[in-house]
Amino acid sequence: MRSILVGKFSNYTLKHELKHNNGAGHIKMIKEWKNGMPIVGLPEILGNLDIDSDHRKVSDALDALLLSLTYNANHNTVLSTLVELIDSICRHFQTEEYMMLSIKYDAIDAHKKEHEEFMNLLWSILFNFETNNEQITTDTLTMISFWKFDHISTFDKEFVEAYQYYLRNN
Ligand SMILES: [Fe+2]
Ligand SMILES: [Fe+2]
Repeated sequence: MRSILVGKFSNYTLKHELKHNNGAGHIKMIKEWKNGMPIVGLPEILGNLDIDSDHRKVSDALDALLLSLTYNANHNTVLSTLVELIDSICRHFQTEEYMMLSIKYDAIDAHKKEHEEFMNLLWSILFNFETNNEQITTDTLTMISFWKFDHISTFDKEFVEAYQYYLRNN
C-alpha cells in the first residue's frame, strides 16, 4: 500500500492511498485530522447520478495512470492511459457545461473558465510527454487529483445544488 501526500492544510493533511488488490489498484482520498481519525471518501458524491458517475470514471482513469506509473509501464501504455484520462475529463466537462446551459446557470462563465484553464494544463502535459518525452510523475498525478478534489468540492458542488434546486422547482 502506498500513500501519496496531496496537500497539508492548517488542521489536516490530504492523502491518496493506493491499495494493490490482485493487480488491481484502488485509490482512496483520505483526510487526516491533525488530532483525530482519518476521514475517507471526500466529496466525490454530490447527489446527481450523471455527474457522480462521470467523476467516478475520472477517478478510475487516474487510478489506471497511477498504476501504469507504479509498474513502470512503457511509453505507449502510459500514453494511452494518459489520453484516456484526458478524454474522460474533457467529455465530463462538456456534459457539465451542457447541463449548466440547460438551466441557464448564472455562474457558468466562471465555472467554464476553470475547466478551460485545467484543460490547457492537461494538453500541455500531454504535449510535453509526447513531444519532449517529459515524464509523468506522481507529482503530476497529485496535482491533477488535488485540482479534482478542490473543483468538485467548490464549483461542482455549487452547480449541482443549483441544478437539483432547478429540477425540484420546474
Ligand atoms: Fe466542473
Ligand atoms: Fe465535475
